[in-house]
Amino acid sequence: MAFAKHSGNDITRQEKQQAAAAALRWVRSGMQLGLGTGSTAAEFITLLGQAVRNGELQVEAVATSLASEKLARAVGIPLLPPRRGLRLDLTIDGADELDNQLQLIKGGGGALLREKVVATASDYLLIIADASKHVAQLGRFPLPLEVVPFALPWVLDAVADLGGAPKLRLDKTNPAEPARSDQGNLLVDCYFGALLNPPELAQQLQQIPGIVEHGLFLGLARAAVVAQADTTLVLQP
Ligand code: 5RP
Repeated sequence: MAFAKHSGNDITRQEKQQAAAAALRWVRSGMQLGLGTGSTAAEFITLLGQAVRNGELQVEAVATSLASEKLARAVGIPLLPPRRGLRLDLTIDGADELDNQLQLIKGGGGALLREKVVATASDYLLIIADASKHVAQLGRFPLPLEVVPFALPWVLDAVADLGGAPKLRLDKTNPAEPARSDQGNLLVDCYFGALLNPPELAQQLQQIPGIVEHGLFLGLARAAVVAQADTTLVLQP
């Protein structure tokens, strides 16, 4: 008898779908949502679109990237533009790393700025992740920064002075060019080793002119759904 082989990628994809499906239970009709960016958030957007098209849920949403906006539109989720006074009930987003205190590294997909803006405008940030993202200590994944192009050389110097190893992110389809955020800014991935004091590092990065935003999300996530094999764990800080 032949056994189907399941690669690590299949398992991760299944866990992403599992976490996305579990997150749908947080959504109620009438909610105004924030939609994250990345492959896990895309699984959620796809499932939410199905529920909207079936008439099971009526929601409106703000997307955290042009890619998520395009997907949301394609699957039938009504979109909201940002406006004054708008508080979102719930944002569902992925993460590159999360620890038990729900400190996060985000920005692997380059959408950290809009993701932080939307998370901050939300009453509740729910993170969805496969098990590989759940770590004892942040720092294996390089910390993304969104940087104004003019400031790049000085930002690289300043990050090195903090003990980091910064690397300009290149465009995946054209590696001769740098990657750009939806705002047209540059993305820099910084290796700091294990992050022993994420709040201190966040404060130091905030003080560097030219860094528009960093990918440390501290005190923002209210819960995380982490899927591992057939089980789904809900983490709360
Ligand atoms: C995008 C992000 C994503 O949430 C993060 O990169 C996780 O992506 P994925 O779900 O594809 O693993 O922060 O800026």
